[in-house]
Amino acid sequence: MAQSTGTSTRSLHADDVLNVVTDVAPPMHLSTTFRYTANPSALVPWANLDHSSGDPTTHTYSRVSAPSSSRFETILSSLLNGKAVAYSSGLSALHAALTLLNPRRISVGEGYHGCHGVIALFSRMTGLQKLPLDCAPNDLQTGDVILLETPVNPTGIAFDISAFAEKAHSQGAYLIVDSTFAPPGLQDPFPLGADLVMHSGTKYFGGHSDLLCGVLATQREDWAQQLLTDRIFIGSVMGNMESWLGVRSLRTLEIRVQRQSESTSRLVSWLHSALHASNPARGSDEVAIQTVLKDVLHASVQPEVQGDWLKKQMPNGFGPVFSIVMKEEKMARELPSRLHFFQHATSLGGVESLIEWRTMSDASVDRRLLRISVGLENWEDLKTDLGRAFRELADL
Ligand SMILES: Cc1ncc(COP(=O)(O)O)c(C=O)c1O
Repeated sequence: MAQSTGTSTRSLHADDVLNVVTDVAPPMHLSTTFRYTANPSALVPWANLDHSSGDPTTHTYSRVSAPSSSRFETILSSLLNGKAVAYSSGLSALHAALTLLNPRRISVGEGYHGCHGVIALFSRMTGLQKLPLDCAPNDLQTGDVILLETPVNPTGIAFDISAFAEKAHSQGAYLIVDSTFAPPGLQDPFPLGADLVMHSGTKYFGGHSDLLCGVLATQREDWAQQLLTDRIFIGSVMGNMESWLGVRSLRTLEIRVQRQSESTSRLVSWLHSALHASNPARGSDEVAIQTVLKDVLHASVQPEVQGDWLKKQMPNGFGPVFSIVMKEEKMARELPSRLHFFQHATSLGGVESLIEWRTMSDASVDRRLLRISVGLENWEDLKTDLGRAFRELADL
C-alpha cells in the first residue's frame, strides 16, 4: 500500500492481501501447527524453503510464524515505514535488538527502568558497557548503540532524534529509538535517522490494557531476515490470542492516540498556566494547584527547546503521557485514592486513564512524582476530577 495513504486507512487495509476467507472481521487462529500440502510432489522441506520470500500466507509452526501475528506485522510494517517484527513484550524486543547488534557499548538515558534490566543481562553475558546518554561522541565506536527513548518514561519529555542519529553515525554506531510514547501518527523516527525503531506494543498498539507485545522495525532487509531467524531460536513470539487482539486494536490506533494526545496537551496546558498564574483569586483552581503542585512535565511545556526540531519531530501532538511533581511525598501517595476517573496502576496506553505514584514500580524516580496516562474519557471530566482532588489535598 502506498506510503502516502493515511495512517488510519493503512491500519484498516494494509492486511487486505491476507484476506483468504470472506469474513470481514479477521478470523481467530489458535493452532500452533499447520498441515503440509497433501500433494507429495509439492512438499518442500524447511531447509530447502526460500525463507526470504516471507510469504505471510504459509505457516508451519507458530514459533516461526502464524496467521494473526503475520497480519499484525503486515499492518505495522506499513504504519512504521519499515519491516516490523513482533515479540512477546517490549523488553523481549529490546533483547532481540541487542542480540542483533551485539554492541560493546550502549549509551542510554534513565528512561524505562526495565530496559536497564535487559542491558544488565547483556553486560553479564557479553561485557556490554553502559555509557550515559550525553557521553562524548568519541566514547562510542563502530557497532556501538545509542538507545534513545523519546518521549521518555515517565516524564513525557522529548529528545532530538536527528541530533542523536548524527552523533551515532559520526562514530559508525547505530541509533535505536524507543518510540513507545509516540506511536505512528505522532512520530516517525526513520526519516530523522533511526536505524531501529522499538515499541512496547503493550501500550498504544494494544491500547486496551489486555495484551503484552513488543515490536522492532527496520528498513534494512538483512536485519529484518536476521531478526526473524533469531526470534525462532529466542522463542519470544507474540501469542496467537494477543496477535488477534492486536489486529483489532490497530484498526483504531490513530484516532485513539490523537484524541489521547490532544486531551493530554489540554490538561497539561491547564496545569501549567495555573501553576504560573500570578495573583490567583482566593479559592480558585489556581490556588489549589499552586498549593499542592511543584511541577508539570511534558514535551508540550518542556523548557530549553532550541530551534524547531520538536515541532518537526512531533507535528501532530506531543504524546498522551505526562507527569506531575507534588510539593510533598505524602500528597503524591494520597492523590490517586482521591480520583474517580484515573485508576491507580502501572503501565499506560490504554483507553482508560491511569495514574501511578511512580515510586510503586520505579525506585529511581523522585518520590513526589506521579505519572499520568490519559485515556479516552472526556478531557473536561478528567480536569474536574483532578481539580477536585487538588482542592481536597490543599484543604480548600
Ligand atoms: C518506554 C518503554 N519501553 C519499553 C517498555 C517495556 O515494555 P513491556 O512492558 O511491553 O515489556 C516499557 C514498559 O513500560 C516502556 O514504557
